[in-house]
Amino acid sequence: MKKGKVLVTGGLGYIGSHTVVELQNAGYSVVVVDNLSNSQADVKERIEAITDKTVSFYKEDVTDYDGLTKVFKKNRNIEAVIHFAAFKAVGESMEKPLDYYYNNVGGLMTLLDVMEDFECKNMVFSSSCTVYGQPELLPVTEHSPVVKAWSPYGSTKIMCEQILSDVTFAKKLRNVSLRYFNPVGAHSSALLGELPKGIPNNLVPFITQSAAGVRGPITVHGNNYSTIDGTCIRDYIHVVDLAKAHVKSLEYLFESNEDYHVFNLGTGKGSTVLQVIKAFEKATGEKLDYSIGERRPGDVEQVWADTSFANKELGWHSELSLEDMMLTAWEWQKTLKK
Ligand code: NAD
Ligand code: WQD
Repeated sequence: MKKGKVLVTGGLGYIGSHTVVELQNAGYSVVVVDNLSNSQADVKERIEAITDKTVSFYKEDVTDYDGLTKVFKKNRNIEAVIHFAAFKAVGESMEKPLDYYYNNVGGLMTLLDVMEDFECKNMVFSSSCTVYGQPELLPVTEHSPVVKAWSPYGSTKIMCEQILSDVTFAKKLRNVSLRYFNPVGAHSSALLGELPKGIPNNLVPFITQSAAGVRGPITVHGNNYSTIDGTCIRDYIHVVDLAKAHVKSLEYLFESNEDYHVFNLGTGKGSTVLQVIKAFEKATGEKLDYSIGERRPGDVEQVWADTSFANKELGWHSELSLEDMMLTAWEWQKTLKK
């Protein structure tokens, strides 16, 4: 069934590209804005190869009012925006906090300005479980306290959620903010996946690069935490499950009587670093070389989601297993190695 037109900012990025695929599969017409600061232009063709549908792509910066206005003028019937475009590296944000504020907070504000000019009132926003810091109670629900961020990156997510709440309250917007836990894995076609710049900070891309011989052995950042095997626990969610949740969120927003919503998007299951390593070895048959190192400063010990609210309200559940995540990440890495 043909559905309306959706603008996806950051739509050639990791989560955005997988979401564009699911939007097109669901019948939406998709317009993408991306400045290619952390993605490649050929992702557009890869999406089209998967869906056999055209993506309208504009190389624009969401902090550029005139550039965004041009896109909205050329696409008068944009019904909603899914806003992925942001910088997301915690460590980099410690070195360049203002870059993160200009891009992540400034970009949202410029986008909201232009949306108001064109009376586009629906937004799905990419937030993060990072807003919870180290929760006192687990699993984390949407009512768990949002604490002072542990990084400028995390601060930008908290500020953006506050801006969205205030703008929604002023009746100028309807919004769903999605707090992602740890997105990993790749599309089953191996045409889409994560493209980390330089040495990956994140666990799964480091694992796949180590297995591919692109990197050396993995260092497990600490095994003296109060967890089952001493290593940190996270809620890893397959990026395709996450993408499907965005389609559900859009439909929920269109039908809801309420203007502002927040959902946790995880699997509801925590996995330790060593469990992820074992899952990768079991799924791929590849043996990983790792050693135990010091704790990584700023790491949360353990966090995983209570997903019952998203399950009930969105009619969405994660479906793919940790092994599916590992296998698809590995299949994607092997294409990169070639
Ligand atoms: P990504 O870097 O792969 O994708 C972001 C995309 O936005 C890239 O294609 C980049 O080129 C583009 N972009 C950045 N700044 C832009 C700007 N000013 N104008 C236009 N395009 C711009 O990152 P991702 O992993 O796909 O994350 C997408 C969103 O989800 C981000 O907002 C991120 O903070 C959030 N998030 C990611 C994770 C994760 O672990 N990947 C977890 C929680 C939340
Ligand atoms: C997971 C676990 C590491 C690498 C980050 C951001 C968060 C969000 C998701 C944007 C931790 C351990 C890692 C390695 C290791 N991004 N690890 N060796 O830190 O939970 O979240 O990405 O919103 O904001 O903070 O994910 O993949 O970096 O680490 O032992 O080589 O793996 O210490 O315990 P994290 P991660």
